[in-house]
Amino acid sequence: MIISPSLLACDFLNIEAELECFKDFKDTWFHLDIMDSHFVPNLTFGHPIVKLISKKTEIPLDAHFMVSNPEFFIDTFKDFNIHNFTFHIESTEKTLELIKKAKKIYPSVGISLKPKTPLTAVTDEMLKELDLILIMSVEPGFGGQSFIEESYARVEYFNKLKTNYPNLMIQVDGGVSNKNAKKLQESGANNLVAGSYIFKDGPLTYKNKIESLRR
Ligand code: DX5
Ligand code: ZN
Repeated sequence: MIISPSLLACDFLNIEAELECFKDFKDTWFHLDIMDSHFVPNLTFGHPIVKLISKKTEIPLDAHFMVSNPEFFIDTFKDFNIHNFTFHIESTEKTLELIKKAKKIYPSVGISLKPKTPLTAVTDEMLKELDLILIMSVEPGFGGQSFIEESYARVEYFNKLKTNYPNLMIQVDGGVSNKNAKKLQESGANNLVAGSYIFKDGPLTYKNKIESLRR
């Protein structure tokens, strides 16, 4: 089980110290929420910040693009040591083409689905190329929202497809906490993103919070 703390919830004035807190943790990725105030209403951070973060940590970077033009970001994030590049299936008509393009650059490529997007939008052709499916368990755009219960069934749908795609990673993002982590894991999730749950009580609790999501 990979746990991906979402830096959206960290202390932005002390990012370097925040990164440092996780340096000895195993099976941890840093989740970066890139929002463009177009695909989603909110705006977060982009190239300069991610570039600086990439120089300060060895932990794999997991970039989640909530943007209207993912192709621009596939082209322009390639020097930032991104391990996993995820973009939204709703953000482009060229999903398969862009997955193939991203696969040439990034070690891992994912597609994200908003809570109401039909699961059948993800085709076999896409699954053959993909490393990761990101099931959004809140509407993308903001941290701190409540987990949508229908997400378990959506995770199970992809878990069943693992007979054909055994290496597919199933990630869940939005409202993840110790209240739903166990059931998510039982449904087939093997990568949990958590922002407010991990960060809200400060650095001394990060380790326990992460362990509580793995249990
Ligand atoms: C929401 C983002 C999430 C967010 C999760 O659009 O994609 O990654 O940071 O935050 P929490 O865990 O607080 O719901
Ligand atoms: Zn995210």
